[in-house]
Amino acid sequence: MCGIVAYIGREEAFPKLLSGLKRLEYRGYDSSGVALMNGDLQVVKRKGKVSELEQAVSGMNLTARMGIGHTRWATHGAPNDVNAHPHLSDGGRLALVHNGIIENYDILKKALTKEGYTFQSETDTEVLVNLIDAIQREENLPLEEAVRLALTRVVGAYAIVVMDRDDPQKVVAARKASPLVVGLGNDAFFIASDATPIVEHTNKVVYLKDEEIATISLGKGLDIKTIENEQQRPYVQELDLKIEQLEKGGYDHFMLKEIFEQPQTVQDAVRGRMHPIEGWIKLSGIEEYANRIIHAKRIIIVACGTSWHAGLIGEYLIEDLARINVEVEYASEFRYRNPILTEDDVVIAISQSGETADTLAALEIAKQRGALIYGLVNVIGSSIARLTDAGSYIHAGPEIGVASTKAFTGQVTLLTLIAINLAHKRGNISEQRYHQLITELSQIPQKIERVLESNKKVEYIAAEIKDRPNALYLGRGYNFPVALEGALKLKEISYIHAEGYPAAEMKHGPIALIDEEMPVIVIANNPSAYEKIVSNIQEVKARKGYVIAVVPEGDEVISQLADQTIEIPATDEPFSPLLSVIPLQLLSYHIALMRGCNVDQPRNLAKSVTVE
Ligand code: F6R
Repeated sequence: MCGIVAYIGREEAFPKLLSGLKRLEYRGYDSSGVALMNGDLQVVKRKGKVSELEQAVSGMNLTARMGIGHTRWATHGAPNDVNAHPHLSDGGRLALVHNGIIENYDILKKALTKEGYTFQSETDTEVLVNLIDAIQREENLPLEEAVRLALTRVVGAYAIVVMDRDDPQKVVAARKASPLVVGLGNDAFFIASDATPIVEHTNKVVYLKDEEIATISLGKGLDIKTIENEQQRPYVQELDLKIEQLEKGGYDHFMLKEIFEQPQTVQDAVRGRMHPIEGWIKLSGIEEYANRIIHAKRIIIVACGTSWHAGLIGEYLIEDLARINVEVEYASEFRYRNPILTEDDVVIAISQSGETADTLAALEIAKQRGALIYGLVNVIGSSIARLTDAGSYIHAGPEIGVASTKAFTGQVTLLTLIAINLAHKRGNISEQRYHQLITELSQIPQKIERVLESNKKVEYIAAEIKDRPNALYLGRGYNFPVALEGALKLKEISYIHAEGYPAAEMKHGPIALIDEEMPVIVIANNPSAYEKIVSNIQEVKARKGYVIAVVPEGDEVISQLADQTIEIPATDEPFSPLLSVIPLQLLSYHIALMRGCNVDQPRNLAKSVTVE
């Protein structure tokens, strides 16, 4: 949700800012801009993608050794050139980029207007830069002190970087509830929303903590203080990230690359945590809090979007195998409805980015009320990872396509591992069943490889239905959440209206929608409900719906009924979502492509939702 990049060093700043913005574009892409310290503050910003900015600057003299850049996902004010960041203070002394929301911007704006400040944009960010300017002028303070005092008056979330025309050797950065990383190069510093623009320059980084303010000047280096003015010692970490992970690696889109990475994703999620031959599972987070987790009265899973769908599969897995009561909550609802929580509850947060504002807030409530909080997170060092008592990283590597694919598979793999582990520790399954389950889990990567071989067939099916305005996804049991996820994938990247439904619920309403125009995608690889799914397909066919069924290899019954089938290897039911979701991801990818949509950067979306 907005990407920030900044550079201060001895080389040209602009090329570094531009390549950084391209790396960060997945966080927001409705406008972008830079401010360069060039004697004065030189600002260029454009509506649209970073490529528009690149075009706009061609022929300009952009010589500067220091600068800030931003790629925006609009919150306050329409996406246009004026609302794009960076924003200048009235008079042009300060330039600022911001990710987050200043909730009390209206009150602040009124007060500043009384003081004579005028505003060009509709943004909360312009209010913040003027607030800093006002404090700085009034008390003749250095930039970092003015930033600190201004932030004590701000309600909301922010990651900011500011430059001062009258102090041209320095940048100041600060964060609260929006991430910011400082890269320590050779006589150079980088600041960014995540490490992706930094890794090609240095692997030494400092992750800023909430309410920390970093002042960086060449010669003096990095100085960190809290908003309470307490000196902090920077904790330097080494990045575990490779540039190849940030490239498309021969694929046309990140989404396709990430779909094809999923055999590896499953392997990486279980690596070092499970041994099918020796028969053990070790999850350090679970071991550490074994007593509380094994004896939990209830597990509550909080998440948003695709991660919430993974959580629903977690509910099926944990209740079925470990026999612990599970509730799955939209983090955005949970946080505002005064939930009942006790010290006997375990709250699991699932998040790819580890920065989703609602999930973070839900966890804070759970923590305050004494529940044990556990994170299943992909991004290392992210806010959710830091807040939780314990957790397990998904280790899916950077997910750049805005539509989540491999992170989902990684999340479901870990939930499966946790469910088997708890089932074993609680004595709910026999030794034989335990070994059977971990043996099958170890075979899932090869089975996903086989599912991926259906790509051409899925592409053919995509061509058949790409112009239909609606689609219905049906699944039962473990595959009901997969139906929801398939529908979400189609909606978000192809803009086709789609609904996911439990197959048996269809007759309670949605069946009215079915006619020859309606593609119905049925996930039919649950052995326990096979006959029931066959009946559901018959109900659809009786109303002339166009049925695409995901079926077990060698299936003969459904292939007689359905218009199209996609075969996937048979597996033990708890693992079926890990296979059945793959053709649905491919289907949405091909349909979106055929409709001319931007697969990796769908309209109105951003990768990491750091606002409510
Ligand atoms: C859909 C998608 C979103 C995210 C949701 C939660 O493809 O990516 O629905 O799953 O915004 O994000 P995280 O997992 O980062 O908390």
